[in-house]
Amino acid sequence: MKILFVASEVYPLVKTGGLGDVAGALPPALMELGEDVRIMMPAYPQALDAARNKKTVLDLGDPFSTGPLSLISARMPSSEAELLLVDSPSLYRRDGGPYQQENGDEWLDNHIRFAALSHAAAALSAYGSVIGWTPELFHANDWQTGLLPAYLRFHHGNPAKCLYTIHNLNYTGRFPAEILPQVNLPWEAYSPDGLEFHDAVSYMKSGLYYADHITTVSRTYAQEIQTPFAGNGFEGLLLDRSSSLTGIVNGVDYQVWNPAHDPHIAAKYQPGRMGGKQACKTALQQELGLPEDPKAPLFGMVSRLTEQKGIDLILDTLPTLERLGGQLVILGTGEDYWEQLLLDRAAASPNIAVKIAYQESLSHRIIAGCDMFMMPSRFEPCGLTQLYALKYGTPPVVHRTGGLADTVRGAGAGPDQTGFVFDDAVPELLAAALEEAVDAFNHRNKWDNIVTNGMQDDYSWENSAKTYQTLYRSL
Ligand code: ADP
Ligand code: GLC
Repeated sequence: MKILFVASEVYPLVKTGGLGDVAGALPPALMELGEDVRIMMPAYPQALDAARNKKTVLDLGDPFSTGPLSLISARMPSSEAELLLVDSPSLYRRDGGPYQQENGDEWLDNHIRFAALSHAAAALSAYGSVIGWTPELFHANDWQTGLLPAYLRFHHGNPAKCLYTIHNLNYTGRFPAEILPQVNLPWEAYSPDGLEFHDAVSYMKSGLYYADHITTVSRTYAQEIQTPFAGNGFEGLLLDRSSSLTGIVNGVDYQVWNPAHDPHIAAKYQPGRMGGKQACKTALQQELGLPEDPKAPLFGMVSRLTEQKGIDLILDTLPTLERLGGQLVILGTGEDYWEQLLLDRAAASPNIAVKIAYQESLSHRIIAGCDMFMMPSRFEPCGLTQLYALKYGTPPVVHRTGGLADTVRGAGAGPDQTGFVFDDAVPELLAAALEEAVDAFNHRNKWDNIVTNGMQDDYSWENSAKTYQTLYRSL
């Protein structure tokens, strides 16, 4: 099947979080299964630099009066996967991030920038013959592509089905109603039965309302978003659409995330040959200026620093960590408030290291070098870092929610335990989970069993890609 996979970030070209990882790994997994997938994303400068064999193949005019829009066909840097880059120099060729300016503020024209991405995708249904490839199914992802099913409907008469995947319902892509004519949509769409959401336009709502089918990235999150706990105001609509809503857990690209051949880490290791893990821990303690103590339980975290990720719970349990003789390393970027609080705590304790940066390579060394991985997220649609931590023999400490609940097995699993799971996002329960983790760490046999179980769990993309394939075909 000809499937157009549309996303606002794709690893290794541009990535800010898990969406990039998924967009980089799911399409190749579908290609392995025989599907004809192309990945569409904006032609950000980093994408233009890294993509190979670039050729402009389609002129799309100037639909938003922001200058010319065109399509560049290209290849991924290190695979044969085909890319379609949506080029608009005035919208995408800028310094800064895919969503934000260098100072952290959102780009003021994000409503146009991402409307253009969806417009270009939908336009392929009409002009695909020019490039000899017309999508038979559209796969949109998160609010940045939420207008795609609306364009298919209002501009093209629903030429093919559209699947919409929710990676995070808390980013709603909300803009004032006045933008509707600017993005070439009729007022008819501005309705509760449409893309209206709390007296504004929401690109997320558009995706949820107009798509033929909705998926999200774990089964538990698919349940949670039909309730006020995680529905973020969309729970009514999602409950109405529950027969068109499926939870499919994300996978891991084990080419990129595997301690047996990871080029970023100090020493390689695998189950049965674990010597390298200790070397990774020592190297990490050295790199971050932590006391070089093999016995001190070292906790790690790699994360966007936002409310979602439960940073406040970590801050509240630092006294427990200190009492247990633990060390902590956090790599992250995000809201100034959390960045500053974390830096203050690191300055006050020799056992805490905080790096405010986005560093792919260091993220691998932290996940390999730590003993345990912290993920006390308040909600978590899937979460990928806990899956990486499992593979690297770094048992995760997680809140029982969303994908964390579906992928980490706590003490209740007995001999099949892979990590430490607590039931409510409150500091007392995180503190108890840290005590439980350190206690297990100090009992060698028990610890080795937990570590080995996690390393042997298989979250490769193959199974989930097959589930997507079945769903595409049913649509
Ligand atoms: P989310 O998508 O909510 O941010 P995930 O766990 O699904 O959470 O994915 C996060 C991805 O982003 C992982 O690949 C993680 O390693 C990466 N990441 C997050 N923050 C950083 C950082 N500061 N440096 C390097 N990688 C990061
Ligand atoms: C989102 C979610 C995260 C998920 C990722 C990829 O950013 O916060 O839980 O793993 O998307 O689907």
